[in-house]
Amino acid sequence: MQIKLEQQKVVVIGGTSGINRGIAEAFAAQGCEVAVLSRSQDKVDETVQALSKLGASAAYGQSADVREFAQLEAAIKRIAEQMGSFDTVISGAAGNFLALADNMSPNGFKSVVDIDLLGSFHVVKAISDYIKSPGGSLMHISAPQALLPMTGQIHVCAAKAGVDMLTKTLAMEWGRKGIRVNSVVPGPITGTEGEKRLLPTAEAQEACRRSVPLQRFGTPQDIANMCLFLASEYASYVNGAVIPVDGGWCQGGAAAASAAMEPLLQSLKKP
Ligand code: NAP
Ligand code: COA
Repeated sequence: MQIKLEQQKVVVIGGTSGINRGIAEAFAAQGCEVAVLSRSQDKVDETVQALSKLGASAAYGQSADVREFAQLEAAIKRIAEQMGSFDTVISGAAGNFLALADNMSPNGFKSVVDIDLLGSFHVVKAISDYIKSPGGSLMHISAPQALLPMTGQIHVCAAKAGVDMLTKTLAMEWGRKGIRVNSVVPGPITGTEGEKRLLPTAEAQEACRRSVPLQRFGTPQDIANMCLFLASEYASYVNGAVIPVDGGWCQGGAAAASAAMEPLLQSLKKP
């Protein structure tokens, strides 16, 4: 089985750090044309240079905030002017912080829902004229919080559950046009901003590692491998799927890790 993607044009929303950056790098290493988009122009510029060095046949970048539709739409249009149509779009911009509902303001809840859920819908609208039809593939980077309630994560649980419903609904609507839509659900991934924010102590990290049936954290490459597969011909009948890549964590370990965080969460104060 050989995955050949070098002709593909790939856009990674939020592709300038962490898991999404790993995904962008994996497509670049396959020789694809890759574009990334995030808020920070510095992160965009640095990523574009790195993608070229890794073997991307061309690399582009734009800065925009997914919460601002007009800004995002203009940035995607500029990418489309450079690339033409898109074979694969990975939509993974997200925000997160640990806080109990009692310590979270309406604006704190809204900021995450606006980035993760509304932002994902904005991406859907902004790419709709450019994603290949038929033949395109959209992947949402979701999270275990979409499937499992976790204390200190009410905003992300609500937002990512919504993201998976975007996936399932759009799979029906866009499936008729030959565009596949799927969610990839990473488990705890090492060396990422998400890990830093959600597992802020060595004890929390170790408890989390032990709660994963495979007894290890995932890597950005683990997630990228699933995205490469979903972008390929081998996944041509996969549509509307929500696919965990989590070492089995969603089978119960995630809930145990969440319960272990309770003392830390109770000690956090309102900002
Ligand atoms: P990260 O490094 O903070 O990545 C987030 C990316 O999104 C960055 O490129 C960031 O760049 C961009 N971004 C954030 N807000 C944005 C906005 N308003 N508009 C446009 N771009 C924005 O985080 P990560 O931990 O790797 O997480 C990546 C994805 O994986 C997220 O969808 C997350 O929910 C999911 N996930 C992570 C884990 C984990 O263990 N880390 C587990 C499960 C799921 P700028 O700052 O330049 O905007
Ligand atoms: N606990 C409780 N509330 C918090 C908080 C925390 N740790 N961090 C932020 N908030 C609240 C703020 O108090 C504010 O609410 P208020 O106006 O009622 O005080 C609200 O959230 C928005 O904060 P602000 O800093 O203005 O948000 P922003 O729009 O600039 O950034 C975040 C959004 C908060 C999600 C920011 O962390 C971010 O940009 N994250 C992107 C990277 C990331 O989270 N990566 C991990 C992905 S898994």
